[in-house]
Amino acid sequence: MYSTLIIASNEGLLNIVINRPDKLNALNTTVLEELKEVVQKFKNDPALKGAIITGAGEKSFVAGADIGGFLQAERSQGEELARKGQEIFSMIEETEKPILAAVNGYALGGGCELAMSCHFRYASENARFGQPEINLGIIPGYGGTQRLPKLIGRGRALEMMLRGDAIDAAEAYRIGLVNKVLAAEKLMEEAEATMRLIISKPAPAIAALIKATNAGFEDKGYGFEQEAKSFAKAFSTDEMVEGVTAFLEKRKPNFK
Ligand code: COA
Repeated sequence: MYSTLIIASNEGLLNIVINRPDKLNALNTTVLEELKEVVQKFKNDPALKGAIITGAGEKSFVAGADIGGFLQAERSQGEELARKGQEIFSMIEETEKPILAAVNGYALGGGCELAMSCHFRYASENARFGQPEINLGIIPGYGGTQRLPKLIGRGRALEMMLRGDAIDAAEAYRIGLVNKVLAAEKLMEEAEATMRLIISKPAPAIAALIKATNAGFEDKGYGFEQEAKSFAKAFSTDEMVEGVTAFLEKRKPNFK
């Protein structure tokens, strides 16, 4: 039914697997559209009580937005690109049923942003988190500049986004980016056990709890608007073209 997702449900629990392992599950337009559709269905299906999002394969959760698509997009389309990702990730965050990210490897760029839009995160020992956009001459555009500081504090978030390198699962745990670190083979088992416990609680109370907690963090206006506009600005530069081309050509970028 979906070309980039594997979907399965069992006794009220929905499993969403992002399935482009040859591209480390990078988020292209199809993944974003399919994710939007599946989350919408999840929201509206009373038989479904909770969801887990993970990535196919053993190496990657999601290694970011699809960099190959950046050069195909018009350089004036940056804001639109950011808005599209922001919309689906905000939809995930605002879903009044619990959604857990089971991070089974790389969670970079849009992958880290996707994990942060879930209600909480478990990680496998080989997981790595980062916002490497700066190395491509751009910035996080799917809510990362807004959610990361709220999760780990402004100083740590700025350091991580400015350095552009990745942190390991133990460090992600230490700074509160993930709730638990597990051996890879235990990740889904533990994620499912926790979700089973949570979805056994009364659904109206779960919905009320998520809504109230989100309300304290609500700034879907100014901050997100600035992120999309700043992303658009970076997306229109020659540095973006050089950064993205260098990645695709598997070489170091030559920034002026
Ligand atoms: N977008 C598009 N393709 C991606 C991708 C992304 N974000 N991340 C990885 N891929 C592709 C690679 O181009 C490669 O494709 P190919 O086999 O057709 O050449 C494939 O996935 C495997 O990746 P590769 O780089 O060969 O694996 P690796 O183990 O050497 O390195 C990473 C893994 C995650 C360190 C590296 O792929 C990487 O840095 N990815 C980009 C991360 C990023 O900048 N994300 C933010 C984007 S805004």
